[in-house]
Amino acid sequence: MSFTVAIDGPAAAGKGTISKGVAAQFGFAHLDTGLLYRAVGRRTLDGTDPVEAAQALTAEELQQGDLRTAEIAQAASKVAVVPEVRAALVDFQRVFARRAGGAVLDGRDIGTVICPEAEVKLFVTASTEVRAERRFLELSAKGANVTREFVLADVRERDVRDAERSTAPMKPAADAVLLDTSDLSVEAALAQAVALVESKC
Ligand code: C5P
Repeated sequence: MSFTVAIDGPAAAGKGTISKGVAAQFGFAHLDTGLLYRAVGRRTLDGTDPVEAAQALTAEELQQGDLRTAEIAQAASKVAVVPEVRAALVDFQRVFARRAGGAVLDGRDIGTVICPEAEVKLFVTASTEVRAERRFLELSAKGANVTREFVLADVRERDVRDAERSTAPMKPAADAVLLDTSDLSVEAALAQAVALVESKC
Protein backbone atom coordinates (compact mmCIF):
# COMPACT_ATOMS: atom_id res chain seq x y z
CA MET A 1 0.00 0.00 0.00
CA SER A 2 1.27 3.48 -0.72
CA PHE A 3 1.40 6.35 1.74
CA THR A 4 2.65 9.78 0.65
CA VAL A 5 4.04 12.57 2.78
CA ALA A 6 4.27 15.91 0.89
CA ILE A 7 6.64 18.47 2.39
CA ASP A 8 6.79 21.89 0.74
CA GLY A 9 8.30 25.24 1.59
CA PRO A 10 10.95 27.80 0.65
CA ALA A 11 14.72 27.24 0.51
CA ALA A 12 16.48 26.30 3.75
CA ALA A 13 13.30 26.16 5.85
CA GLY A 14 14.26 22.70 7.09
CA LYS A 15 12.35 20.56 4.55
CA GLY A 16 15.33 18.37 3.75
CA THR A 17 16.20 17.57 7.34
CA ILE A 18 12.58 16.94 8.27
CA SER A 19 11.98 14.81 5.17
CA LYS A 20 15.03 12.63 5.79
CA GLY A 21 14.08 12.26 9.46
CA VAL A 22 10.48 11.30 8.71
CA ALA A 23 11.61 8.84 6.03
CA ALA A 24 14.09 7.22 8.43
CA GLN A 25 11.54 7.06 11.25
CA PHE A 26 8.86 5.30 9.18
CA GLY A 27 11.06 3.42 6.71
CA PHE A 28 9.73 5.46 3.77
CA ALA A 29 11.71 6.33 0.63
CA HIS A 30 12.67 10.00 0.21
CA LEU A 31 12.86 12.14 -2.91
CA ASP A 32 14.27 15.67 -2.76
CA THR A 33 12.50 17.03 -5.85
CA GLY A 34 14.71 20.14 -5.84
CA LEU A 35 17.44 17.86 -7.17
CA LEU A 36 15.44 17.28 -10.35
CA TYR A 37 15.32 21.01 -11.06
CA ARG A 38 18.95 21.39 -10.01
CA ALA A 39 20.05 18.61 -12.39
CA VAL A 40 18.16 20.30 -15.24
CA GLY A 41 19.57 23.69 -14.21
CA ARG A 42 23.12 22.31 -14.24
CA ARG A 43 22.67 21.05 -17.80
CA THR A 44 21.59 24.52 -18.94
CA LEU A 45 24.84 26.03 -17.68
CA ASP A 46 26.59 24.59 -20.74
CA GLY A 47 23.88 25.87 -23.05
CA THR A 48 21.59 22.80 -23.18
CA ASP A 49 17.93 23.60 -23.77
CA PRO A 50 16.04 23.22 -20.44
CA VAL A 51 13.08 21.34 -21.89
CA GLU A 52 15.36 18.84 -23.66
CA ALA A 53 17.39 18.45 -20.47
CA ALA A 54 14.24 17.76 -18.43
CA GLN A 55 12.92 15.25 -20.96
CA ALA A 56 16.25 13.39 -21.02
CA LEU A 57 16.86 13.44 -17.25
CA THR A 58 17.82 10.11 -15.68
CA ALA A 59 17.77 9.03 -12.04
CA GLU A 60 21.55 8.48 -12.21
CA GLU A 61 22.13 12.15 -13.01
CA LEU A 62 20.75 13.08 -9.58
CA GLN A 63 23.69 11.30 -7.96
CA GLN A 64 26.43 12.84 -10.08
CA GLY A 65 28.49 15.68 -8.63
CA ASP A 66 27.46 18.36 -6.17
CA LEU A 67 24.13 19.82 -7.19
CA ARG A 68 23.81 21.88 -4.01
CA THR A 69 25.76 24.95 -5.08
CA ALA A 70 24.42 28.51 -5.16
CA GLU A 71 25.05 28.73 -8.91
CA ILE A 72 23.02 25.61 -9.63
CA ALA A 73 20.25 26.76 -7.24
CA GLN A 74 19.80 29.91 -9.31
CA ALA A 75 19.81 27.94 -12.57
CA ALA A 76 17.25 25.52 -11.06
CA SER A 77 14.83 28.26 -10.10
CA LYS A 78 15.07 29.70 -13.61
CA VAL A 79 14.28 26.42 -15.38
CA ALA A 80 11.51 25.77 -12.82
CA VAL A 81 9.37 28.56 -14.26
CA VAL A 82 9.16 26.78 -17.65
CA PRO A 83 5.87 24.83 -17.83
CA GLU A 84 7.30 22.16 -20.22
CA VAL A 85 10.18 21.52 -17.81
CA ARG A 86 7.75 20.97 -14.94
CA ALA A 87 5.51 18.77 -17.09
CA ALA A 88 8.45 16.55 -18.07
CA LEU A 89 9.22 15.86 -14.39
CA VAL A 90 5.70 15.05 -13.18
CA ASP A 91 5.52 11.31 -13.93
CA PHE A 92 8.82 10.48 -12.24
CA GLN A 93 7.64 12.20 -9.06
CA ARG A 94 4.17 10.61 -9.08
CA VAL A 95 5.54 7.11 -9.63
CA PHE A 96 7.97 7.67 -6.75
CA ALA A 97 5.13 8.94 -4.54
CA ARG A 98 3.00 5.86 -5.11
CA ARG A 99 5.70 3.26 -4.51
CA ALA A 100 4.81 0.51 -2.04
CA GLY A 101 6.03 1.08 1.49
CA GLY A 102 5.57 4.84 1.67
CA ALA A 103 7.33 7.92 0.31
CA VAL A 104 8.30 11.39 1.42
CA LEU A 105 8.69 14.02 -1.30
CA ASP A 106 9.90 17.52 -0.57
CA GLY A 107 9.73 20.53 -2.88
CA ARG A 108 7.51 23.50 -3.68
CA ASP A 109 4.40 22.03 -5.36
CA ILE A 110 4.11 18.51 -3.99
CA GLY A 111 0.94 19.04 -1.93
CA THR A 112 -0.66 21.31 -4.53
CA VAL A 113 0.20 19.79 -7.93
CA ILE A 114 2.24 16.59 -7.82
CA CYS A 115 0.41 14.75 -5.02
CA PRO A 116 -2.84 16.55 -4.19
CA GLU A 117 -4.04 13.25 -2.67
CA ALA A 118 -1.06 12.90 -0.29
CA GLU A 119 -2.03 11.46 3.08
CA VAL A 120 0.07 14.06 4.91
CA LYS A 121 0.88 17.61 3.77
CA LEU A 122 3.27 19.85 5.58
CA PHE A 123 4.37 23.36 4.63
CA VAL A 124 7.63 24.23 6.37
CA THR A 125 8.64 27.87 6.69
CA ALA A 126 11.05 30.07 8.64
CA SER A 127 11.90 33.75 8.46
CA THR A 128 14.02 34.81 5.49
CA GLU A 129 16.91 35.81 7.77
CA VAL A 130 16.94 32.49 9.61
CA ARG A 131 16.84 30.56 6.35
CA ALA A 132 19.62 32.61 4.78
CA GLU A 133 21.81 32.11 7.86
CA ARG A 134 21.25 28.35 7.75
CA ARG A 135 22.09 28.17 4.07
CA PHE A 136 25.16 30.39 4.60
CA LEU A 137 26.48 28.05 7.30
CA GLU A 138 25.72 25.00 5.14
CA LEU A 139 27.54 26.39 2.09
CA SER A 140 30.46 27.71 4.17
CA ALA A 141 30.88 24.33 5.86
CA LYS A 142 31.32 22.83 2.38
CA GLY A 143 34.04 25.35 1.68
CA ALA A 144 32.01 27.58 -0.66
CA ASN A 145 33.31 31.11 -0.89
CA VAL A 146 30.06 33.03 -0.21
CA THR A 147 29.06 35.97 1.99
CA ARG A 148 25.95 36.31 4.15
CA GLU A 149 24.73 39.14 1.91
CA PHE A 150 25.09 37.01 -1.20
CA VAL A 151 23.19 34.09 0.32
CA LEU A 152 20.41 36.35 1.64
CA ALA A 153 20.00 37.91 -1.82
CA ASP A 154 19.95 34.44 -3.44
CA VAL A 155 17.28 33.16 -1.06
CA ARG A 156 15.13 36.28 -1.52
CA GLU A 157 15.41 36.15 -5.30
CA ARG A 158 14.47 32.47 -5.47
CA ASP A 159 11.55 32.97 -3.04
CA VAL A 160 10.07 35.65 -5.27
CA ARG A 161 10.61 33.63 -8.47
CA ASP A 162 9.18 30.45 -6.90
CA ALA A 163 6.14 32.16 -5.38
CA GLU A 164 5.26 34.35 -8.35
CA ARG A 165 5.62 32.00 -11.32
CA SER A 166 2.33 31.15 -12.98
CA THR A 167 2.81 27.37 -13.23
CA ALA A 168 2.80 25.53 -9.90
CA PRO A 169 3.85 28.46 -7.71
CA MET A 170 5.15 27.71 -4.24
CA LYS A 171 2.24 27.94 -1.81
CA PRO A 172 0.75 25.85 0.98
CA ALA A 173 -2.03 23.46 -0.09
CA ALA A 174 -5.37 24.41 1.48
CA ASP A 175 -5.15 21.29 3.67
CA ALA A 176 -1.44 21.56 4.57
CA VAL A 177 -0.27 21.87 8.16
CA LEU A 178 2.05 24.88 8.58
CA LEU A 179 5.27 24.43 10.54
CA ASP A 180 7.40 27.51 11.26
CA THR A 181 10.89 26.36 12.23
CA SER A 182 12.36 29.83 12.93
CA ASP A 183 12.53 29.21 16.67
CA LEU A 184 12.63 25.42 16.66
CA SER A 185 15.58 23.08 17.05
CA VAL A 186 15.97 20.38 14.41
CA GLU A 187 14.79 17.81 16.97
CA ALA A 188 11.67 19.80 17.89
CA ALA A 189 10.71 20.41 14.25
CA LEU A 190 11.21 16.75 13.39
CA ALA A 191 9.20 15.63 16.44
CA GLN A 192 6.23 17.73 15.26
CA ALA A 193 6.42 16.30 11.75
CA VAL A 194 6.69 12.72 13.07
CA ALA A 195 3.69 13.27 15.36
CA LEU A 196 1.67 14.56 12.40
CA VAL A 197 2.53 11.52 10.25
CA GLU A 198 1.75 9.17 13.15
CA SER A 199 -1.66 10.75 13.56
CA LYS A 200 -2.48 9.94 9.90
CA CYS A 201 -0.97 6.44 9.66
O1 C5P B 1 14.70 22.81 -2.88
P1 C5P B 1 15.85 23.36 -3.68
O2 C5P B 1 16.40 24.63 -3.13
O3 C5P B 1 16.89 22.33 -3.94
O4 C5P B 1 15.21 23.70 -5.10
C1 C5P B 1 15.92 24.39 -6.11
C2 C5P B 1 14.91 25.13 -6.98
O5 C5P B 1 14.13 24.18 -7.70
C3 C5P B 1 13.90 25.99 -6.22
O6 C5P B 1 14.34 27.30 -6.00
C4 C5P B 1 12.69 25.95 -7.13
O7 C5P B 1 12.75 26.96 -8.09
C5 C5P B 1 12.79 24.63 -7.85
N1 C5P B 1 11.85 23.62 -7.36
C6 C5P B 1 10.55 23.67 -7.83
N2 C5P B 1 9.66 22.70 -7.49
C7 C5P B 1 10.02 21.73 -6.65
C8 C5P B 1 11.33 21.68 -6.12
C9 C5P B 1 12.22 22.65 -6.49
O8 C5P B 1 10.19 24.58 -8.58
N3 C5P B 1 9.12 20.78 -6.35
